[in-house]
Amino acid sequence: MNTIEVRAWAKLNLSLDVLGKLTDGYHAMRMVMQSVTLCDDLRVSLTEKREFTADTNLRYLPGDERNIAAKAGKVFLEKIHERRHGVHVEITKRVPVCAGLGGGSGDAAAVLRAMNELTSAHLPGAELEALALLVGADVPFCVAGGTALAEGRGERLTQLPPIPDCAIVIVKPEFSVSTPDLFAKLNCAALRCHPDTDGIIQAIREGSLLNLSRRVYNVFEDVLPRGSGEVCALKGALLDSGALGVAMSGTGPSVFGLFAEKAAAEAAAERLRGKVRDCFLCAPMRKIEIDK
Ligand code: C5P
Repeated sequence: MNTIEVRAWAKLNLSLDVLGKLTDGYHAMRMVMQSVTLCDDLRVSLTEKREFTADTNLRYLPGDERNIAAKAGKVFLEKIHERRHGVHVEITKRVPVCAGLGGGSGDAAAVLRAMNELTSAHLPGAELEALALLVGADVPFCVAGGTALAEGRGERLTQLPPIPDCAIVIVKPEFSVSTPDLFAKLNCAALRCHPDTDGIIQAIREGSLLNLSRRVYNVFEDVLPRGSGEVCALKGALLDSGALGVAMSGTGPSVFGLFAEKAAAEAAAERLRGKVRDCFLCAPMRKIEIDK
């Protein structure tokens, strides 16, 4: 078998806190991450030629090793000292790009999972996560997904119980955000508000959707350069439609709302589809078992 089909799920930050700057320019994070059913579809192939390529339904994404999915294929083959083959990835993108939803990170993680099967290397989950950090800071979480506390650059993962059943509406304003630019704008010492991440973890452990929802928060909401009015307006629209809690995900600009009832979430999504192009109704995903 030379080709395998896999899915790459989007992620949300139920909380996102930046604790300080590290000596290498990266930032120390503390965040509760959640994977959701919104996903890209991938076909990952081992090729005869030593090349690392990707093809997507979005023409502006790079097709060479600058594509994080192709890069993940290369990192994997180098790890297992396989020097003859290459990797080609075909991606049907549904997760918006540069949107704070971990679209690229999810694709890269899915390639690592696929390569683990295709090559019969069957690296344990912890090794796959260590490899994932070479590709990007959010990739280790995306390897198994589910619900987790992510610390350090994002690679120190503590698994949490699944969040209570809920429906989630994700909306992406029409502008994109550059992650490095937003990190560069961040002055950790000047941040006025921080999320109650411990409170979120406790709410998850207690199975309280209400206590979780009322605490979701992301420090980048205070740093957004432009378009923050649109982010606020969409958060307001989600709350007016019955969301129990709303926040921006990652470095934005996507905003999500947590709903107790699917019918209310459906109605909210319907209403918002009249205002923005990218609006998705989805649900939380459980962790994937790597070490079977
Ligand atoms: O690791 P990744 O390529 O996803 O990170 C994109 C950019 O986000 C980095 O170049 C860095 O500017 C910023 N970043 C950071 N601290 C983190 C994660 C990302 O400063 N923990």
